[in-house]
Amino acid sequence: MSSDSPKASSDRRTADATPHAASLIQSLRDIGYSAETALADIIDNSITAGARKVEILSDAASAEPAVAVLDDGRGMTMVELLEAMRPGSKNPLDSRASGDLGRFGLGMKSASFSQCKRLTVATRKDGTTSAATWDLDEVSRTNKWEVEIHDDLSGIPWSDMLGTQGTLVVWRSLDRLSGGIESDHRKRAEHINRLLAEAERHIRLVFHRFMSEDRPPLEIALNGRRLEPLDPFGTRFPKHQADRPDRLELKNGFVEFQSFTLPHHKEIPPADWNDLGGPEGHLRTQGFYVYRGRRLIIAGSWLGMARQTELTKLCRIRVDIPNTMDSEWKIDVKKASAQLPPAVRERMRLLVERLALTSKRTYQRRGKKLVDSEYFPVWQRIQRDGAIIYRPDLSHPVFADFAARLPDELQGEFANLIALIGSSVPVASLHSDFAGSPEEVRAEEADEQSLHQLADAMIPRLVEQGIERERIAEILCQIEPFKSAAAMAQGIINEKLDRYHNNG
Ligand SMILES: Nc1ncnc2c1ncn2[C@@H]1O[C@H](COP(=O)(O)OP(=O)(O)OP(=O)(O)O)[C@@H](O)[C@H]1O
Ligand SMILES: [Mg+2]
Repeated sequence: MSSDSPKASSDRRTADATPHAASLIQSLRDIGYSAETALADIIDNSITAGARKVEILSDAASAEPAVAVLDDGRGMTMVELLEAMRPGSKNPLDSRASGDLGRFGLGMKSASFSQCKRLTVATRKDGTTSAATWDLDEVSRTNKWEVEIHDDLSGIPWSDMLGTQGTLVVWRSLDRLSGGIESDHRKRAEHINRLLAEAERHIRLVFHRFMSEDRPPLEIALNGRRLEPLDPFGTRFPKHQADRPDRLELKNGFVEFQSFTLPHHKEIPPADWNDLGGPEGHLRTQGFYVYRGRRLIIAGSWLGMARQTELTKLCRIRVDIPNTMDSEWKIDVKKASAQLPPAVRERMRLLVERLALTSKRTYQRRGKKLVDSEYFPVWQRIQRDGAIIYRPDLSHPVFADFAARLPDELQGEFANLIALIGSSVPVASLHSDFAGSPEEVRAEEADEQSLHQLADAMIPRLVEQGIERERIAEILCQIEPFKSAAAMAQGIINEKLDRYHNNG
């Protein structure tokens, strides 16, 4: 009887269905990793192994380009290494230590094969160094689940950098990471370097909590350059807002929630603002940030519960889950997606509703304050019959005083001219600019002469109202166009006030 023909046992019939190594190992390559999620999966293992330093190394320009992740974690013995090289080295149903970022016993292999055809792992533990390689071309040729064992490390790039303990994961034959570019070495190097540069942001974000909360902090470097953590809640900026944390008890542990509001873009340096928003910008990075064991798995999405709008642009909600809930959350091998258990979804929906309300109110208040000042705004905001209209206020002293000095026959024309400015506000164009890059939209700064003219017109009115001198300076500096030209405006206003008071 051949090995694949049915066998009869006492109560059931079975047949051999061992997977074909050559084809199954190829399928492992295509479960949807990108260069950045693949690298992050390798770094997960370093963190689980207690590493304090992780180095991403690359040699993109050489004839045989290679990329590696080196750590100083606890390393593996030869027996552990051979077990680790096995696809499905651990049972996903087994419980794991709370700091273990793994689940499937698959990540190191599937992440590596998604980018390369040759995976070498060299590792040192208790003074013993072990190394083994999966070579997909070899597996294709032999159709055997066999790794090569190395007694000599000299051919393994960066193996001389292994410390007293730790692990080095090397990717070679980078067919995927090099985008299939083979003959043009310069182009290939550019491609690899671009992917690594893009991965940098992902890594700073995914592991930011280990890089800032841990003592000592986890250090991650890319070709010798230490990466800074990227905290999507901007908590290092004093003007960020953090709501009270909240938790929900489920069968297998607690889910924790905390809402944050980023500082307004004027309250942090532009470089930091851009870094926080990233290439997609703040509109696209608002939303939930879900962490599993403090490792980010979902970033910047309202998960179908709300739209990403300008109003909620600064809102981010942190959701923390432990690794004991993986089956309820349907965590995937790549740790890049999850499904929300219904009770959690309900709580998250409430948080979103509350958030949308408060941010709407904040913006409305801010909008009102801008134009609703009792002290002569140049622009009026009028809400009528479901429409909002902005128009220059003709009774404003700066217009009224000027008009009073015009001959009668020009006064009507002057009023028409000002009204024309109001009716030709380019609403559609403003709207599209605000949808794109709102922080770049601003009113033109007034020049010195206009500030003089405006101060001349307003100061007497404010004095007439019996307002104290210091308060007048304060009021004027808070409204446009003085506010945007603060330094120059202050001088002009003080000079006028001096003159006005001295002249009685
Ligand atoms: N850098 C490392 N240091 C020490 N041990 C490691 C390292 N990388 C991998 N291992 C060992 O190899 C095993 C297999 O890793 P792999 O990433 O394939 O699966 P996992 O981490 O257990 O689960 P998952 O598939 O969810 O990532 C790990 O469980 C761990 O025991
Ligand atoms: Mg893993």
